[in-house]
Amino acid sequence: MKCIKQEISFTLNGGAVCVDVPVTTDTLTMLRDRLKLTGTKYGCGEGECGACTILVDGVAVNACLMFAVDCHGRELTTIEGVQTEDGLSTMQRAFVSCGATQCGFCTPGLIMQGTSLLNRSPDISVEQIKRGIEGNLCRCTGYHKVIDAIATALDSNRSAPKEHS
Ligand code: FES
Ligand code: FES
Repeated sequence: MKCIKQEISFTLNGGAVCVDVPVTTDTLTMLRDRLKLTGTKYGCGEGECGACTILVDGVAVNACLMFAVDCHGRELTTIEGVQTEDGLSTMQRAFVSCGATQCGFCTPGLIMQGTSLLNRSPDISVEQIKRGIEGNLCRCTGYHKVIDAIATALDSNRSAPKEHS
């Protein structure tokens, strides 16, 4: 069967990207296999685990559920793109300081989800954080430290200039 490809252009972690992709390819496959950005994890491949969470135009999206061709003209951020000129992002630093990582498989997705929450509103409650990460599964931490980390990042961001993410 003929593989139909389409050329797409988008912004990825602040840089311009132009690739041709099969029209049936999902964004997670494009990122990991074609663009070699393996920080975004493959967990379930069907929108259940959140391991593949990235930002599209600043909003958290499951990359496994998005066709790569739908990235055309959009701004994508992966875990490889969240650091700042000073090093780790506020969210990454909070995950480290709160000990919110164990095996680490879920961590890129949770950091992207946390960053999306931070982009949306600096003043969300713990209950809203819990609801915000309910699509991101973690088998190790029990979530308490993850919630602490996101709350800590939100706190520190209130008094800091807004980060690019
Ligand atoms: S790999 Fe995308 S939600 Fe699990
Ligand atoms: S730290 Fe292991 S799955 Fe979350």
